[in-house]
Parts: sequence; structure tokens; C-alpha cells
Amino acid sequence: MRTQVAIIGAGPAGLLLSHLLHLQGIESVVLESRSRAEIESTIRAGVLEQGTMDILTETGVGERMRSEGALHHGIELAFDGARHRIDLTELTGKAITVYPQHEVIKDLVAARLAAQGELLFEVSGVALHGVETSQPSVTFLHGGAECKLEADFIIGCDGYHGVSRPAMPGQGLRKDFQRIYPFGWFGILVESAPSSDELIYARHDRGFALVSTRSPTVQRLYFQCDPSDHTDNWSDDRIWAELHARLENRDGWKLKEGRIFQKNIIGMRSFVSTPMQAGRLFLAGDAAHIVPPTGAKGLNLAVSDVRLLARGLDQFYRQGSEEHLNGYSDEALKRIWRAEYFSWTMTRLLHTFADATPFEREMQRAELENIVSSRALATSLAENYVGAF
Ligand code: FAD
Ligand code: DHB
Repeated sequence: MRTQVAIIGAGPAGLLLSHLLHLQGIESVVLESRSRAEIESTIRAGVLEQGTMDILTETGVGERMRSEGALHHGIELAFDGARHRIDLTELTGKAITVYPQHEVIKDLVAARLAAQGELLFEVSGVALHGVETSQPSVTFLHGGAECKLEADFIIGCDGYHGVSRPAMPGQGLRKDFQRIYPFGWFGILVESAPSSDELIYARHDRGFALVSTRSPTVQRLYFQCDPSDHTDNWSDDRIWAELHARLENRDGWKLKEGRIFQKNIIGMRSFVSTPMQAGRLFLAGDAAHIVPPTGAKGLNLAVSDVRLLARGLDQFYRQGSEEHLNGYSDEALKRIWRAEYFSWTMTRLLHTFADATPFEREMQRAELENIVSSRALATSLAENYVGAF
């Protein structure tokens, strides 16, 4: 098999890249280790920045997002029993949409298949070859057959646990940056009406809590937990008691309960692997970087990476120039580091650190107080949240 661009991984990064390349008349093949049903049902991100919404709309895959997603013009920061609204649209002119990642995946898979795009599910044993030559290739097993895919470029969009990053040559010369947080998020899906029109990010001495949504009948809630804890240790009653305690307030707002039908625990880390290019191999999305979820940036960063790659590949195939491609890593990393900074800031602002001194806890509260009482600081938070940079 031969194609122009071999893409490993059918997450948001791989699928969107394949879609953008198709619109530019560039062929690609996407290799995915999981089944279509699995990628279309894995519950992950929910917040799409304005730039992500715009690119999905401009490239013809935003119809369901616009009709079924919820446009939000603000978020709330809750602490010390009070809620404070950050008016994203008034402060930045932009908004966010809450639309589940697996719905974005469904829209992109449908678009690729409708365009006769090559998407191979349930491949295994993916291995990369000759990435420092102009004829790289990927070998893998598909339907029991050994396959070889030759390409001009390989793009690793296979997430944090994928094979592309370890296949980057010059491992000794690469620089990785990492911080692992001493807490995780316990996430639940609940059958109920929304408790709030907007997302609530809450700081409490018992730990962080987040009220998000999925649809008028399904809600998404998270709370800070021990990353090594197990969902089995948390009965529904215990979960509700914890959420009520962390979200208690003096303004009469009440969290609506409902049937909990999914529970999961995720660990949290900040991670950046540099550079994001080695010869004809490029990394995009979680394969190259991870943010803690507090800033809602992961999916959006994956989208901005592949936007840059699509531009670089377009320049290569139209003009024979590798200028944009060779500048990809530096250009992408500028935005990545800013998002890493924002995600780390939101994380340390809102979570309880077991080793924090009483003084440090007061500093955290004072920082929140500063943000909600200063238009300049609130604007900075809003710009980062909607991705206005
Ligand atoms: P992935 O989505 O991880 O896709 C990689 C794909 O590659 C997968 O389908 C995988 O099966 C496949 N793959 C892996 N290895 C191989 C292999 N060897 N061969 C072939 N295929 C392979 N981000 C936000 O922007 N906003 C949010 O609100 C948000 N909330 C989140 C909440 C949670 C609970 C979690 C876990 C994440 C959240 N994120 C959020 C992060 C976001 O989900 C990720 O950043 C995003 O999925 C990254 O997309 P990706 O395409 O780079 O990688
Ligand atoms: C969701 C996830 C996030 O990480 C976040 O910051 C806000 C919302 C969500 O899954 O809805």
C-alpha cells in the first residue's frame, strides 16, 4: 500500500488531520488500534474552544455540534460558599461549546467514510520504519494479514501511550518535561437535568469539584480524588455526599441528583516531549503533550497542532517547500507551552494539595479573590480559557 501521509491513531488529531488533508486534495491512510464502536463511545473531553468550533464549522463537520452542542458564554468560579461568573463573551468576544469528544469523533469518522477515506480499525503491531529517509513506512497487522504502508510522511496521532513517540530517533537528544500531580479526577455521568446553565469550577478544602454537562438529560461531574483509589470504593451515596459538601454555597444553588451510570478515575499530568519532528515523522496531540484537564485544553491543542501540520503539508505538496513543516515544532510548542501554563495555573488554583501549609491555602484563596475582583485578571483567565491566543 502507498499513500502520501500515513496517520497513526483515529483520535481527534488523526481524524481531523485526515479530513483537512482530504479537503486540500492530499491522500492519507489512518491506522487505528481500536474498533470504530470503541472510539465512538469513549467518554473524554467536553469543552470546545472557539477556534475548534470554527474549524469544524468551516470544514463542514460542525452541523451536529451547532445543533446538539451547548454554546456557553461564561463559566463560574466557586469558593468560600459563593459563585462568581466569568463572562467569557463580554471579556473576549468569544464563547465555548460543550459537545462531547466522542460526538466529534463520530462526525469526523462519518465525513471520512463518506469521502471514501481510508480508515483501518483494529490494526495491531504498528511499527515505524525509515523515518529519517524520504521513504518512511509503517508495518502492521490487519485482519490477520501483515501489511506495509509506504508514505511521504508519518504523523503520530496515537496519544500518550502510542508507538510514535518512542519511535522518534535520537532518544538521547530529546527533551521531555513532566509533572505528575498527587491527585486525580473522579468523573461520573448522571441522568438528570442540568444543575447550572454554565460550568462551575469549585475550590473547597475537601478538594476540587466541577459541574459540567453533556445534554439536557445527561450531566458530567468531576471531583478531585486519590489517583490510586477505585470506583468500587465509591457508592452513589458517598459520591453525592462528597459533591454536595464541595459545592455547598450560601446563594441557594442546589446540585441535582440522578442515576449515576458511569464512573471513572483519571490521573493527572503535565507533559511535553520535544521536538515534535524528526525527519519525516511528526507528533501531534496527546502523543506529544498532556495537560491536566482543569483548563479543558487537551482536545483543543490536538486540533491546533493538526491545523499547523495541514498547512505545512499543503505548502509541501503545492510548492515543494518544507519551510512550514520544518517550523512546525517551534510554532506548535509556543501555543502548547501557553496552554501548559494555563492548565497548571488552573490546577494549582483550584485543587487541594495535601502538603499545602495554611499560609499557602490562604494564598490560593487570595488569588481567586483577585481574579474575580479584577477585570484584567478575569480577562486573562477568559482569554486563555476560550483560546484567544
Ligand atoms: P487520543 O484521543 O488519545 O487518540 C489517540 C488514538 O490513537 C486512540 O484512538 C488510540 O486508540 C489510538 N492508538 C494508540 N496507540 C495506537 C497504536 N499503537 N496504533 C494505532 N492506533 C493507536 N480536552 C479538552 O480539550 N477539553 C476537555 O474538556 C477535556 N476533558 C477531558 C476529560 C477527561 C476525563 C480526559 C481523559 C481527557 C480530557 N481532555 C480534554 C483531553 C482530550 O480528551 C485529549 O487531549 C484528546 O483526546 C487528544 O486527542 P488525540 O487525538 O491527540 O489523542
Ligand atoms: C469537561 C472536562 C474538563 O476537563 C473541563 O475543564 C471542563 C469540562 C467535561 O468533560 O465536560
